Amino acid sequence: MCLLYGEEFYSAWGHAHHAISTVSSGFEVAYGRPFYEYLGQDAATARRFQHTLNAASMFFHQVPEVFDFSGKTVVDVGGGGGQLLATILGAAPDARGTLFDREHMLPQAGEHLAAAVGLDRVELVGGDMFADVPKGGDVYILCRVLAGWDDEAVVKAFENCRRAFADSSSRLLLLDRFVDDEEPTVLPALWDLHLLMTTGGGHRTIDRITALLNRAGLEIERKAELPMEAVALIATPRD
Ligand SMILES: C[S@@+](CC[C@H](N)C(=O)[O-])C[C@H]1O[C@@H](n2cnc3c(N)ncnc32)[C@H](O)[C@@H]1O
Repeated sequence: MCLLYGEEFYSAWGHAHHAISTVSSGFEVAYGRPFYEYLGQDAATARRFQHTLNAASMFFHQVPEVFDFSGKTVVDVGGGGGQLLATILGAAPDARGTLFDREHMLPQAGEHLAAAVGLDRVELVGGDMFADVPKGGDVYILCRVLAGWDDEAVVKAFENCRRAFADSSSRLLLLDRFVDDEEPTVLPALWDLHLLMTTGGGHRTIDRITALLNRAGLEIERKAELPMEAVALIATPRD
């Protein structure tokens, strides 16, 4: 985490003035490529980034307490290193899981899932969530994925998940931090700025996410608080 912040993220923040005044990624100015494209070409940094995410994954253990995964087929879209899926499959021994991410993430995710829960109930699928996601899941998860993308891309990812639902009882589970325009708290606000430096993205308010879900034919059914100011939003197809 220190290495990533001391090198790549430090360089990205070096372009803070440009990033803030143009509302675009400081990282892209520093490295000439968008963040995730860079990670796809640099395995060591991709691994370091996943380790950094793991260091801030303390809310994962409470996810099975806010959503019942028993007997469900779970598709973790942009599932990264597999930590969340392993936590879910560990808590729900009769659930099955698909980890979907860019191809370069699969070896790392497979390694972690094999060690944590075994691969019997796991499928690893590489691809692009803006093109398609694996079909037939009962629960689609987008955990800390939305912040790097603009509204059009987010709606596309939501639509692809909804189209892939097994049936109308399927759910989309969003796990993220959201900013509150009325009474902003420090952590999501700082992360919002950090996301601008790195991916050029940012956190959204729940109202804005609700509007994007609606555009994709989904609506929020329920909301649950998680540690570290993370929130679970459970979305269902609109009638
Ligand atoms: C901030 S990480 C979150 C990883 C994981 N969900 C977690 O919370 O630890 C975002 C993830 O989205 C993946 N991702 C980025 N673009 C993607 C795309 N077009 N299709 C599928 N996954 C993508 C990245 O590779 C990365 O693993």
